Amino acid sequence: MVDRNVENRPPAKVTHPQTKKFLEGIFIPDLPDPQIPLVPLDTSTLPKPDQYVLPEIRKDLVRLVAGVFNLEPDPKLATVDAPEHTGADLAITCYPLARNLRKPPEIIAREFVGKFSGLPTISGLEATNGYLNFTLNSSNLGKLVLNEVEKLGDKYGYQDVGNGNIVVIDSSSPNIAKFMSVGHLRSTVIGESLSKIYKANGYNIIRDNHLGDWGTQFGMLGRAYELWGDKSLESQQDPDSIQMLYELYVRMHKEIDGQKRINDSEESPLEQEGRAWFKRLEDGDPDAKKLLDWAMTHSLKEFQRVYDILGVSFEYMLGESAYVPMLPSVLKKLSELNIIHPDSKGGLSADLSPLNLPRLMVQKKDDTSLYASRDLATLAARTSWFDPEKIVYVVGGEQKEYFKQIFEVFHRWAGDEAPITEHVGFGMITLPEGKMSTRKGRVIFLENVLNEAISRAYDRIPSERELDDAQKQTLARQLGVGAVIYMDLGQGRDRDIKFDWTQALTLEGHSAPYIQYAHARAATIIEKAEKEGILAGNEEVVFNTPNERRLIKLIASYPESVKRAMEQNQPSIVAEHTYSTAAAFNQFYHSDRVLGVPNEAVRSSRLRLTNAAGQTLKNGLFLLGIESPTQL
Ligand code: ARG
Repeated sequence: MVDRNVENRPPAKVTHPQTKKFLEGIFIPDLPDPQIPLVPLDTSTLPKPDQYVLPEIRKDLVRLVAGVFNLEPDPKLATVDAPEHTGADLAITCYPLARNLRKPPEIIAREFVGKFSGLPTISGLEATNGYLNFTLNSSNLGKLVLNEVEKLGDKYGYQDVGNGNIVVIDSSSPNIAKFMSVGHLRSTVIGESLSKIYKANGYNIIRDNHLGDWGTQFGMLGRAYELWGDKSLESQQDPDSIQMLYELYVRMHKEIDGQKRINDSEESPLEQEGRAWFKRLEDGDPDAKKLLDWAMTHSLKEFQRVYDILGVSFEYMLGESAYVPMLPSVLKKLSELNIIHPDSKGGLSADLSPLNLPRLMVQKKDDTSLYASRDLATLAARTSWFDPEKIVYVVGGEQKEYFKQIFEVFHRWAGDEAPITEHVGFGMITLPEGKMSTRKGRVIFLENVLNEAISRAYDRIPSERELDDAQKQTLARQLGVGAVIYMDLGQGRDRDIKFDWTQALTLEGHSAPYIQYAHARAATIIEKAEKEGILAGNEEVVFNTPNERRLIKLIASYPESVKRAMEQNQPSIVAEHTYSTAAAFNQFYHSDRVLGVPNEAVRSSRLRLTNAAGQTLKNGLFLLGIESPTQL
């Protein structure tokens, strides 16, 4: 049975060229101009992931082992990092070969050692308990890695996994008529970092900020404005308009709670009025729309200030309202496909019980649209506009089940034609001051947190630094904002964050300033070398200290971390790697002299290593969305 409400709507008009069958009959709005120019990524200049030195060595080792035992090309062998206590670097387990070769792994490993004829990048091999433990030759590995970093520069770590395919990143996505809270920090910062990480992996990125500008909550706000709002502000374009809307929002919820306490009913009279106001909006009432447009204009100004401080931008910023015109065609299609049905509440919903998920409601009994239906329409529009390989939703963990529902409905609809959809969730953020709640008016504003971080960083700039105030301001912003971003990205995104000022701005441990300082130190050494005319040759490379060795290995494995960070949607993998590299660089710098070493080959090698470390730190910070000043 097809719902009457859906049938009665005018037939959909298709204006956008459709290539996918599931989009047939769906009204797709024209794509507005992007906020920033779309510059396609030239993937032809990027290395393939296995062309980097370390993956190349891994491949060689697997090939050698397979070759010695005459195994098929894919013998299920892989290198792993050798356990610390072995003192080796890479290991291969011979256990998967035992069955095929009808020999115990210990024997296989020993046989291989007997037949191994050596590789320039390998300085040692040992067989222990069925494992092959390989030690890397620091000088030879170092030479290859230094060449690689010097050749690729800012693109060191980039690799063509994505072949220029498109990934849409839905991130930040605040609701208009409200301030952006610290809670939005996470989506913005994780989304920005992921977009850079995907790009580094050869994808073209569309960052699409899905602004919340539609829904019952705006009905509540509109009603509150009618009742209590200062109407003069609307014409005055007052900069405090968001403050007023925010106060209205808080008051509305207080009053609703009050009514509910008295009546103990499911829906308070005020809520009903708010619902009616939203219905007006959805039915196209121009006055209602005018208020919303006004709120949108002022909200965007607010948001933009925060985005500017953070240094993030979006290819598109489209409100949920942009997708409302699609809904009749989308709901008609979903009904025809038997994915949604009229339900007992008088609305339309999808039964997801086979997946142990609650029903997903896509239309209410008064015909108004829902967050979910607008998201389904958005999926169709994005597929049509961008034909992406994947759409990534960077949205708080509390919407986990919601995205399962949406994706399920969308995949039932689009089948094989659906792009990959992924929800990248994250934990909550709390400040020492307490937990946040917009509704209760207890909220810590993101902009204040950033400004506080900047001013604390400013106060810590040593007074003996010869900087004018503008330079100090810049530095304070780079350090303060970096600290806030790293506080977020420094640990796995699923974990909750207890924001801690001291920890965020520390120069000692796990923090952005610590990494920024290591980078600046490397830059200073390079600058000093240039001033003194000390040149790094590129002929002989010698490395023999443990600190050099550790640092080279970290630089060599950086591209693999960049790839893994994308595969797991975890910027923290890059953050960790960059932090470890900074720590290794500091150790190297403290124990091994660079410019003062008399031996020319050693000096030149260390100078180049310093340069490569600085470059790797810079590239890692960049992928996190953190700046790397050269002077600190
Ligand atoms: N505006 C929503 C909120 O603040 C987040 C939107 C996330 N993106 C989406 N496509 N649902 O909760």
